[in-house]
Amino acid sequence: TAPVIAIDGPSASGKGTVAARVATTLGYHMLDSGALYRLTALAARKAGVAWEDEAAVAAIAAALPAEFEGERILLSGEEVSEAIRSEEMGDGASKVAALPAVRAALLARQRAYRRWPGLVADGRDMGSVVFPWAECKVFLTASAEARAERRHKQLIAKGVPAKITPLLQDLRERDARDTARSVAPLQKCAEAELLDTSNLSIEQAVAAVLGCARE
Ligand code: CDP
Repeated sequence: TAPVIAIDGPSASGKGTVAARVATTLGYHMLDSGALYRLTALAARKAGVAWEDEAAVAAIAAALPAEFEGERILLSGEEVSEAIRSEEMGDGASKVAALPAVRAALLARQRAYRRWPGLVADGRDMGSVVFPWAECKVFLTASAEARAERRHKQLIAKGVPAKITPLLQDLRERDARDTARSVAPLQKCAEAELLDTSNLSIEQAVAAVLGCARE
């Protein structure tokens, strides 16, 4: 069976960037599990289904007509790469992700990403629920202040006006919701290596994950 590198952590911790670089370096496949929750939230919205309607959202998640073509993400053939990254869909993702039937509906789909020569999976429960047998597990985090600053820089670079204080507050609210929920709460699993990137560059964080993968 193909090896798995599981990278979990809070919002804006830089997991996505680090996971993608590790996957490129090793020539591994990549699973951005957050994108599946974002796609589920967007598909529900398009179908006129409320994010709280567990049975209906789970049915949408189970039959999600999503395709990943390199950087492009398609939903029913329509490109939604930008649309799923909005703050609103981040919020919707975190709401549908709190529903056990939705998480169950996405489980097999996530596991199917494990293929040769290997997989880098990024999310909240990769090491604890989806790939508990992964040989390398990393919990990647950073202080809320460092994460808010990174998100701020990203938005400004995209030309979106943003202020640090409300971003910091949003991050804290999302962390609280992801940590307090009863299913797959955000927490470091015992075997995971803790990697605090508050004072690390992307290159240093990538090197640390590659080190864990080579152990
Ligand atoms: O970029 P950011 O970390 O804000 O979001 P993301 O990784 O795309 O995930 C969006 C939301 O989906 C998170 O707030 C989580 O509530 C949820 N999620 C989850 O529950 N389990 C995962 N494996 C991935 C994401």
